[in-house]
Amino acid sequence: MNNRKKRVMKNKVLNIKKKFNLFNDRWSPKVIAEINNYQVKLTKLKGDFPWHSHKDTDEAFIVVEGDLRIDFKDGFVSLSEGEMYVVPKGVEHKPSAVKEVKIMLIEPKGVVNTGDLEPNNLTAKNDIWI
Ligand code: NI
Repeated sequence: MNNRKKRVMKNKVLNIKKKFNLFNDRWSPKVIAEINNYQVKLTKLKGDFPWHSHKDTDEAFIVVEGDLRIDFKDGFVSLSEGEMYVVPKGVEHKPSAVKEVKIMLIEPKGVVNTGDLEPNNLTAKNDIWI
C-alpha cells in the first residue's frame, strides 16, 4: 500500500491500556466499541459480585490484567491475564477477584451486569462510553 497517501479511517485505533486509565470505579462496565449489536466493555473488579445469570445471552470474559475467578454452582474457573471464558446463557455465575483485575466483556448491547437480580446498588448504568 502507498504510505504517502494518508487516509482518515472511519474507526479510531483504541488503546485498551489507556482506556483503563480513564476510570477507577469497579463493577461498572464502560463501553469502548460496538460490533453490530454487540458491545465491548471494560471494567475493573475486586471482591465478590452477587450470584446472577443472564437468561438470554452468553457473556464473554477476557482478563486483560490480574486474576479472575468465576464460580458456578458445580465448580469454578480461574482466569489469568490473556485468558478468556464464555459463560453460557442461563448459567448462574459469581465473578470475584482477590486483587483488582481488569477485564474486557463482550456481550449484546443492553445486557444488565446484575442479570436476573432485582436492580441493586451494584447494577450499573448501561451504555456508558469512554
Ligand atoms: Ni454476568
